[in-house]
Amino acid sequence: MRFGILASGSGSNMEAIAQAIDEQRIRGVIAVVIYNEPGAYVQHRAAARNIPVVHLNHRDFGNREALDQELINVLSAHGVDLVLMAGWMRVVTPVLIDGFPERILNIHPSLLPSFRGMHAIQQALDYGVKLTGCTVHLVVPDVDAGRILAQAAVPVLPDDTLHSLRLRIQAQEHRIYPEAIADYQQHLLRGHVHP
Ligand code: GRF
Repeated sequence: MRFGILASGSGSNMEAIAQAIDEQRIRGVIAVVIYNEPGAYVQHRAAARNIPVVHLNHRDFGNREALDQELINVLSAHGVDLVLMAGWMRVVTPVLIDGFPERILNIHPSLLPSFRGMHAIQQALDYGVKLTGCTVHLVVPDVDAGRILAQAAVPVLPDDTLHSLRLRIQAQEHRIYPEAIADYQQHLLRGHVHP
């Protein structure tokens, strides 16, 4: 299976997926990493692993649909079967979703359906919840709303800052995202359309 990873930031989830492939916990290859933010560290992680990297700056596109059409072009050119959003901080449109139906996964730093959107970790702190976590889900046109594939709970400690809580959540992301990908591959191999 050929994976296409979409990332905007540090790429620690990309790294966790690459490591799981190295250790044969996931079968496949990262065919391409696409990033949008010019300074995103993920480009260096991918280059260090000799993974093809493509930069698509969303500011160069007139609207979300135009960016998504170019994403499809690049993903298709690299023969991608499964798209993995790993910290892709752009809302995707039906243009991309219809191009890869049931073939786009995302990781989100909350226990969905709580705290959708960009500021999930801060919202968990602001609400004072005692448990938060992370979720792997299928991507549908509604933001952070598709079928849930895996979750992990993380305690919120009294002295937590955004940074300390993010680190605790990300440690779980790096564990459950590769597991969820492997499980999803099994479902696809068995010919199931739905997980
Ligand atoms: C992750 O915490 C993910 O949940 C969120 O963005 C972050 C990406 O981190 N959507 P990284 O780039 O994988 O290190």
